[in-house]
Amino acid sequence: MNDLRFDGQVALVTGAGRGLGRAHARLLAARGCTVVINDLGSAFDGTGAATGRVADEVVALIEAEGGKATANYDSVENGQAIIDDVMATHGRLDIVINNAGILTPEVWSELTLESWQRTLNVNLTGVFSVMKAAWPVFVAQQYGRCIVTSSPAVYGAGVAAYAASKAGVIGLANSLQFEAKKLKLDIKCNILIPQADTRMTQDFGAAVDARRVQQGKPAARKAPAEVMQRLSPDKVSAMVVWLAHQDCQAEASIHEAGGGYFARLNWARSAPLFATEKEGVLAAPLPENIRDGQNTLADFAGGDHPISGDGSMGAPNALEQVFGHLK
Ligand SMILES: NC(=O)c1ccc[n+]([C@@H]2O[C@H](COP(=O)([O-])OP(=O)(O)OC[C@H]3O[C@@H](n4cnc5c(N)ncnc54)[C@H](O)[C@@H]3O)[C@@H](O)[C@H]2O)c1
Repeated sequence: MNDLRFDGQVALVTGAGRGLGRAHARLLAARGCTVVINDLGSAFDGTGAATGRVADEVVALIEAEGGKATANYDSVENGQAIIDDVMATHGRLDIVINNAGILTPEVWSELTLESWQRTLNVNLTGVFSVMKAAWPVFVAQQYGRCIVTSSPAVYGAGVAAYAASKAGVIGLANSLQFEAKKLKLDIKCNILIPQADTRMTQDFGAAVDARRVQQGKPAARKAPAEVMQRLSPDKVSAMVVWLAHQDCQAEASIHEAGGGYFARLNWARSAPLFATEKEGVLAAPLPENIRDGQNTLADFAGGDHPISGDGSMGAPNALEQVFGHLK
């Protein structure tokens, strides 16, 4: 098996001062990549002033392991400052791992606009800000690898702001991939859905427990220690490093990773329902057409998988089937 190497390349890993970002950065550095360790150093929920020099600690660790790294302490909300620093220090940028994130623990009934905005500012606008600044570098190089970090929370979880922000980055990555395809450049944007035991999950669990105790409820049940051990962040990084490699041709692809488990997700579109068939195309479909078409809308075997750039009604022959008989 020949190793996947990154010699001569430069990667930016945001939020790499701890947790998943730190693990991704270490593996990239071990494969010959020069890594910029960005981390603001805030609390898990984005509150509080930056404390400690977490990025310096990761740089020292990587150097001790024989790798090359530099530190950056800007917030991802100021992406241009980060990219300017990367370019001034290293003169190139091949890979951006958008990993920085915060998790505000309020349940829906407690969620405030301030908390909602704080979450979206870092988790979604932060990715926008970094990628907006990185994009011209990728385009000039005609090459780039971008990974955004989503979450299983998008499937539904009691953290609405977080889930919305993590669903947002999927749409953003799909759109960046669409732009890259339009330009016909070797730029790939992919999506990671990780699961790991980190400061974020530990502090979130503690905040949830504190609330439960306040409400007179027992603390939430914890996974056994051996399960948590299996969920160490380094068990995720192989997927990130693969998605960051020039050999990886995946585009706007969504991958789960955690505890040494990996999976790929697809969008799934059902078989097309032509609600206007009975009424004629000029008539607006009726709600009853939808009610009576439930079997078709549940038929995923007869459907397809939209990919970046498909747009709506992207099933190759859907429009043809709707309007074909008018020819
Ligand atoms: N741990 C999990 O199970 C899990 C699951 C799904 C998604 N994620 C996502 O993975 C990413 C990494 O999470 P983690 O579990 O390692 O969390 P973590 O809290 O251990 O690490 C996140 C890092 O991001 C940094 N950060 C926060 N705001 C920043 C900002 N504005 N600019 C720069 N850095 C900032 C923090 O200082 C911290 O070091 C996050 O985006 C998180 O939402 C984690």
